[in-house]
Amino acid sequence: MAKKFIADVAVAGRRVFLRNDFNVPLNAGGEITDDTRIQAALPTFRHLLDNGARIVCSSHLGRPKGEVVPDCSLAPVAKRLGGLLGERVLFCAETVGARAEKAKAKLKPGQILMLENLRFHPGETRNDPAFAAELAKGIDLYVDDAFGACHRAHASIDEITRHVPLAVAGFLLRKEIDFLTLAAENPPDHYLVILGGAKVSDKLPLLRHLVTQADAILIGGAMAYTFLKAEGMEVGASRVENECLELCRDIRRQAEERGVRFLLPRDHIAACQIEPNITVRIIRTGEGIPGEMMGLDIGPETVEAFQAEIGRARLIFWNGPMGVFEVDTFSGGTMEIAAALAASPATTIVGGGDSLAAVNRAGVADRISHLSTGGGASLEFLAGDKLPGIEALTEA
Ligand code: 3PG
Repeated sequence: MAKKFIADVAVAGRRVFLRNDFNVPLNAGGEITDDTRIQAALPTFRHLLDNGARIVCSSHLGRPKGEVVPDCSLAPVAKRLGGLLGERVLFCAETVGARAEKAKAKLKPGQILMLENLRFHPGETRNDPAFAAELAKGIDLYVDDAFGACHRAHASIDEITRHVPLAVAGFLLRKEIDFLTLAAENPPDHYLVILGGAKVSDKLPLLRHLVTQADAILIGGAMAYTFLKAEGMEVGASRVENECLELCRDIRRQAEERGVRFLLPRDHIAACQIEPNITVRIIRTGEGIPGEMMGLDIGPETVEAFQAEIGRARLIFWNGPMGVFEVDTFSGGTMEIAAALAASPATTIVGGGDSLAAVNRAGVADRISHLSTGGGASLEFLAGDKLPGIEALTEA
């Protein structure tokens, strides 16, 4: 059943609680290093501003575990949001309580107030009704635009919807649902999934589902080494999750039974350390990686094989880099895959913080059909799970 959408409800003069996912990366100096998630939230802010709503927004940032952790303050986010919108964003250093209530009550139509990090309160991650009721105090409309946190049954995502008259999806959430539903429910023939990143354990539920849906699955990144070890390859000092070996074999078996093309790297850029000027070797899978070396990127033959798959796909979902792309020496595979997606006429969806950073670094972000702001959330959505944040919204 479709959920109510912000554009279908009156917002003028209403006090709106807007839940964002402003969990953005910060450097040691507390500066935002990637504001993709803030940029992606702008259409909903603009809609609410243009239509005279009183906007109370907030987010989580990091995992402060119910305590006030100054490094996780949303203050730099409020500043960046104000800069991007060209509007003043009032900031309240409290999330609930007397000062927050006063600031909420004073808000005029067309004004924005950001409340401090929701996770500074233990009630947030516990989905506590009392905390949710405080957040909802004086609120006429709840708008969820925090797709990246929709897989969390937390107070500002789930319980709050039971304390407000109406709970609707914002523009970003709606766009995420539309694109990911295409992949989750209605994929065309030639649906290709590319997975990488460090851990296979994070992606097992998704892989189990994908072997029933995708036409081809390509595996890169450190997670490939658990699959390769499961097949008997010598992987040297490459990162492996030994507890997942049998599960990897099982997934390969299922892929084979269903005729899904399942490609693991055929060659590797290997080195003894993750350092920019280290000597590297290109090693073929059949040779095995010697004891002290690690596979740190996919090799040229793998890139070619993956490019060929990308060339015949009509829908592509990509999550997780192909190697340690933060270090130039090991970024080649990830950059080639980003470029191949950009050049493909297929509908392309890229999800997860590292993959977004990779397409940005490759300079091709504007040639990807949809950049999903969800990491874990997009994986759970594509695995066919119901996300609490979406389930909780008012039905249309
Ligand atoms: C994310 O970055 O994936 C989301 O903001 C969710 O964050 P969490 O994993 O800390 O709940």
